[in-house]
Amino acid sequence: MSNQRARQLLQSKSITIPTLPAVVQKVQHLLEDPNTGAKELGDVVASDAPLAAKVLKIANSAYYGLRERCLAPQHATAVLGVRVLRNVVTQAAVIGKYDHLKGSSFDLNALWKHSILVAQACSFLGKRCRAAIGLSGDELYVCGLLHDLGQVVLLDCMKQDYIDVVDFARERNLPLYAAEIERLGFGHTDVGHVVAQQWGLPPQIGNAILLHHGTREEIASDPVVALVANVNLLVHRVTEGNLGAAATAFDASIQSILGIQATDVTDLVQFVDKAKASVVV
Ligand SMILES: [Fe+2]
Ligand SMILES: [Fe+2]
Repeated sequence: MSNQRARQLLQSKSITIPTLPAVVQKVQHLLEDPNTGAKELGDVVASDAPLAAKVLKIANSAYYGLRERCLAPQHATAVLGVRVLRNVVTQAAVIGKYDHLKGSSFDLNALWKHSILVAQACSFLGKRCRAAIGLSGDELYVCGLLHDLGQVVLLDCMKQDYIDVVDFARERNLPLYAAEIERLGFGHTDVGHVVAQQWGLPPQIGNAILLHHGTREEIASDPVVALVANVNLLVHRVTEGNLGAAATAFDASIQSILGIQATDVTDLVQFVDKAKASVVV
């Protein structure tokens, strides 16, 4: 769906596109200056206590494997580096923005866990790609993190009406995306795409969000789409405990688009299977 058509449709259904959290804007702005140091960035995070607590929880999680516990954002920035910290702040701020939705019958915690696993897995696999894919590991992380954000935006705007769509999908045994198209005329992919544009994310990130449930041709049309769509599939299969099926998530043509081998996919399955127990939301 074209972006203009998506925006019209969303407007007609009173779906408002969220703004980029102010702290992420501030961090982005600071990072445009190459002289910005760890202390300045840490100070911005430290000025928002609930955010700082979330940032430290993420920075001290198993994924980053720090040898010593960070007790201050300035320390976390120094140890992890400013680019990694930008991702940590984005994760903390975007998830924190929707804390008010906790407690509904929509399992938001499970969706964030899934999103973080996809983010970690995209970044892991990005390092194995021998083909040029055009995005850094940090950018792939953000792409994975936000690929299903459209679901959260729809839940926030539509409340019970969106939960009805989720229930409809479950009752009919339909993929959620198909149920959204049937009931709403657009999917969480369209919503996520508009958000990515609004937030000024690189076009390849927006495109991967838009097409992660696309046709075979759409998925094979761009290496980042191929990576995110198939990582999403693999993570779902690992989470369901189906490791054998997970290992076949990337077929030979997708492997060649990404410049990866079967062993890279097996390693990714193991990585996700191990990581799933220690994801921190
Ligand atoms: Fe999705
Ligand atoms: Fe997903």
